[in-house]
Amino acid sequence: MNLTGPFTQIVTLNNLPLKGKLQDESLEIISNGGILTENGKILEVSDFDSLKQQFPDSEIDFIKGEQIAIPAFVDAHTHICFGGNRSNDFAMRNAGKTYLEIAESGGGIWSSVKHTRASSEEELVEGILKRVNQLIKQGITTIEIKSGYGLNVEEELKMLRAIKKAQAKTKVTLVPTCLSAHLKPKDFEGTSEEYLNYILDEILPKVKEENLANRVDIFIEKSAFQPEESKVFLEKAKELGFQITVHADQFSAGSSRIAVEVGAKSADHLEATIDEDIEFLANSNTVAIALPGASLGLGEPFSPARKILDKGGILAIATDWNPGSAPMGNLVTQASILATYQKLTTAEVLSAITFRAAFALDLEDRGILAEGKKADFITYNTDNFQNILYHQGSLLPNQVYINGEKVL
Ligand code: NIG
Ligand code: FE
Repeated sequence: MNLTGPFTQIVTLNNLPLKGKLQDESLEIISNGGILTENGKILEVSDFDSLKQQFPDSEIDFIKGEQIAIPAFVDAHTHICFGGNRSNDFAMRNAGKTYLEIAESGGGIWSSVKHTRASSEEELVEGILKRVNQLIKQGITTIEIKSGYGLNVEEELKMLRAIKKAQAKTKVTLVPTCLSAHLKPKDFEGTSEEYLNYILDEILPKVKEENLANRVDIFIEKSAFQPEESKVFLEKAKELGFQITVHADQFSAGSSRIAVEVGAKSADHLEATIDEDIEFLANSNTVAIALPGASLGLGEPFSPARKILDKGGILAIATDWNPGSAPMGNLVTQASILATYQKLTTAEVLSAITFRAAFALDLEDRGILAEGKKADFITYNTDNFQNILYHQGSLLPNQVYINGEKVL
């Protein structure tokens, strides 16, 4: 048994509802708290001195000075397996060039596909681990990673194998998602419907066979896949046993509705979701994942996070870290900025990057500090939890624990 503490404050995020708005008063905050763990799990979170008395044999990890502890963060949507760099896209976009002009000059998703295809599996593993290490420093210990820059059997499998190899080299949990339906590749001869069938027939069975992912994503948008064909694709992927997530309503409305109809775990983006569809989404158990990093990267509106919560939906916030639309990769900065523009409470933001994000990944074993949960938590050298969002990402954790073990 290990006892870590005493902490000035422990914010457990325990006993909060999965859905809807939250007031900061509902947060459980334990002063002079301790966290008791065994075999990677939390046994108890309560007053440090009484835990010490009750469990005199526990090994004590003494915390010096003023520090707070909260659950480690979950980034439920990233594309951090890629080759190349798209800084020229960013510069061109800011110089007023259109999507088409950028694509014609060799940018856009296709440019990442070319660079990713040109990278070896080992290079991809290195790139993933480099970015994972950046995310750990922010206190993130669970990271979803999508394929989607390979776009044929060999290259998509290469990406997913790279994620699996990276997993073997890090204690952070990596959650792989097959996003072969990111875009119909330029070198595929056939319609987009035929490409979706190719994914179903050629890619997904191999993904299953090699146990490379149990989640399937699709980009439903005018420039990518159309609503009807996407719905058929998602129903079939579900029949094959995959969980579903959708890039929905990024530029035009309609696809979050499909995500709900197929029972997706999450509908992500939602910058263009109309009020009627917000209500439909909020009445479901599909998590609405806001991606402020993409809004900031593209200069697009933020997702309607406030309305989603007010209507009773489940809100999560993720980085969407990718080489094109969201190159920043700083979850707390983005979540804090979304909070100022959308008027989100501290409780709503912290829940959106912990247990509500974990729910989107079907990982209900984490995201709160309570008995039986995975002992992933982070500590900050500060005396008040409000300082985390107040500093908008510039206050970094001073320690990160995974399965009760200090990794940073
Ligand atoms: O989530 N919207 C589609 N896909 C990514 C962008 C990927 C890219 O531009 O490379 C996104 O924003
Ligand atoms: Fe994305």
